[in-house]
Amino acid sequence: MQIERAREMGFCFGVRRAIKLLEQAAQKHGTIESLGAVVHNKQVVNRLAELGVKVINNTEQIKGNVVAVPSHGLGLPMLEKLKLDVPAVVDATCPFVRRAQVSARKLAHAGFQIVIFGDAEHSEVKAILNSCEGHGIVAAEANIAFSEPPKRLGVLSQTTQSTERFGWFVKELLDKVLSNVDELRIINTICDATKERQTAARELSSRSDIMLVVGDVNSSNTRRLAELCSGVGVETHLVESADQLDAVWFKNKKHVGVTAGASTPDDTIDLVIRKLQNLA
Ligand code: F3S
Repeated sequence: MQIERAREMGFCFGVRRAIKLLEQAAQKHGTIESLGAVVHNKQVVNRLAELGVKVINNTEQIKGNVVAVPSHGLGLPMLEKLKLDVPAVVDATCPFVRRAQVSARKLAHAGFQIVIFGDAEHSEVKAILNSCEGHGIVAAEANIAFSEPPKRLGVLSQTTQSTERFGWFVKELLDKVLSNVDELRIINTICDATKERQTAARELSSRSDIMLVVGDVNSSNTRRLAELCSGVGVETHLVESADQLDAVWFKNKKHVGVTAGASTPDDTIDLVIRKLQNLA
């Protein structure tokens, strides 16, 4: 059985940067509070907890003087308030997320109705919506009930969506609203790391008998990778750790492809590969 890793997989620049910022802050201050998990991966959160990073769910739970903003960000108005209320803010927002937030705010100030393509429950999307300052809507489907048809329309995406699904969403939306729209701005805010991982996973899926996607089930980009691989028509399993591998999956399989979400640590991927090698 041949085991092949995707040429782009695992930790992205934004995740590495966020983890480093929190490690440095914990070393300097002892204990710090993080407004939500720094990245959507349990192993990473547990390791940072050992260094003194305590996860809190909202600003009302803040007890200390040092608060970290995770890679998914906090809406720009909320971040500005936090900086006034707390002595030290460690801002680990990924620069790609910040770009989406700034684009949203600029569109709002220019009088655009903004549509964010993404998962309304995801913390990154909530933060972009907050940056729209009351002029945003989140949608995963194009049949949006606008209170009044927008004349100026801006469309953005959650940074970790699939490029195909965003393209499909934009086409469907324009079919419905373009006749009423005077001005349109589409900003592809899907990040480079997501695009590269998706391209590499698609290529590998096309020559594999089975794909393993390693990552946390709560990680948006990990789930998108799993959808993409199964969409190519290859048997796909999303696993959080090596313990979840089932030998039955690999019976009569000659080529196993492995990819991983942008928040999956290298050692988790290595353990999965090692277990696969033992099964081969
Ligand atoms: Fe940033 Fe994209 Fe990673 S938004 S955190 S570079 S998946």
